[in-house]
Amino acid sequence: ALAPAFARRFTPLGLACVIVLAATSVSQAQALIGSLPGLLGTAYGKLAIAKIALFGGLLLLACANRFRFAPRAETSGSARSLALSVALEAGLGLAIVAVAAALASRPPAIHEQPVWPFAVRPVPAFWDDAYLRDGLFRLLAPVATALALFVAALSLRKLRWPALLAGAIALAFVQIPPWRPYVVAAVPTSFQGSPTGYAARSIATGRELFQRDCARCHGADVRGRGPVAIAQSVWPPDLSAPLIAGRPGGELFWSIRHGVGPMPPAGQLDDAAIWSLVDFIRLRAGARIFSPSEMSWSGAARMPGFVARCVGGTIVVPGNGVPLTLRFGRDEPGAGVEVQVDGAGQRCAVEDPAPLAAALAEITASASAPALVLVDANGWLRRAFKAEGDGAPDKVASELAEIRRRPLEGAGLHH
Ligand code: HEC
Repeated sequence: ALAPAFARRFTPLGLACVIVLAATSVSQAQALIGSLPGLLGTAYGKLAIAKIALFGGLLLLACANRFRFAPRAETSGSARSLALSVALEAGLGLAIVAVAAALASRPPAIHEQPVWPFAVRPVPAFWDDAYLRDGLFRLLAPVATALALFVAALSLRKLRWPALLAGAIALAFVQIPPWRPYVVAAVPTSFQGSPTGYAARSIATGRELFQRDCARCHGADVRGRGPVAIAQSVWPPDLSAPLIAGRPGGELFWSIRHGVGPMPPAGQLDDAAIWSLVDFIRLRAGARIFSPSEMSWSGAARMPGFVARCVGGTIVVPGNGVPLTLRFGRDEPGAGVEVQVDGAGQRCAVEDPAPLAAALAEITASASAPALVLVDANGWLRRAFKAEGDGAPDKVASELAEIRRRPLEGAGLHH
């Protein structure tokens, strides 16, 4: 007999718990899953979807208890259906705990390479496109208006018929935009990123492999002028061109792994080798947008990855939120690279300096690495100086101030 009263009094506590759970799960999902590909394309994400579905079922049952079973128990005096529903809810709750345990014992989605399940993916940065925004607006604005009117019709008894009619009229204004402009072709690896960290060592491996397996068609400098290019049914593209540089690394990876058109698949190469080829192609794209007269890049060129150890034992890598200044030793070739972290007087030495010097020589289109290189907080190359004298201290300082003020944003730039 007391069950309905208990159920009613439990509502505020239950509601508070559910709101806390839902709110914290949003921030957890952001930290551990991070993106739509992470949700749809990893084992972790799929478990999370199962958990969300179970949670949804739980909410539905809770609603049914609150609005149907509890009031009915009050009037009829029998709490059978309420008891059954609560038992079912407890079962779902246990299932959620089991899924949570499974989630907690596997690597989070952000540490896995997602496998994109569809043949298309949403156009990146689609809010920036007025045409696409407009099309969506013409679809959603009438739908939202109609929904609001229908809800009003349900709750306002007196105005039910006028509200229903107005909702129907709003629906007549719906324009369904063509869906194709909203997506681009995708492959399973579209959202995978190079696991090499664009390391100078990996770029060196990629350079070697490229000369061995790819240069005969694409040319040693990747510009598409290899000796057998003319024999292909399709001319091999210039891989340093913006059209390729703007593509996600995961899609270049897929093309290299499986081949396209007359290009044979790279069946004999393992994943790491293919990622290093992508790294090398990226380096060449950076070299293409380097201006020797200004000693800077006209777009986004990523600083090759390295690890520097500082006197106190601190470790420095590019793109870690602080601008870096790199000094290349002049006296002996490959004599070591010194890194200075912005603001701190501390100097740090790069481990494995030879491939880094080679990568920077190549990306500045010169025979040897520049004397001084400035990298912004997000890890993008910003300015180089040929010799220390070039980079008179005040000039370097003013450039650094500029870089500090405006680091290149990483969003929309592909690694
Ligand atoms: C037999 C000549 C040949 C060889 C060898 C070759 N390619 Fe290609 N490659 C092509 C051609 C031709 C295309 C353009 C295919 C098309 O668009 O139909 C192409 C396209 C590409 C693309 C662009 C793919 C895309 O999705 O647009 C990349 C990246 C690429 N090649 C990288 C490589 C790498 C790396 C190697 C070495 C492992 C290599 N290629 C070896 C001929 C070749």
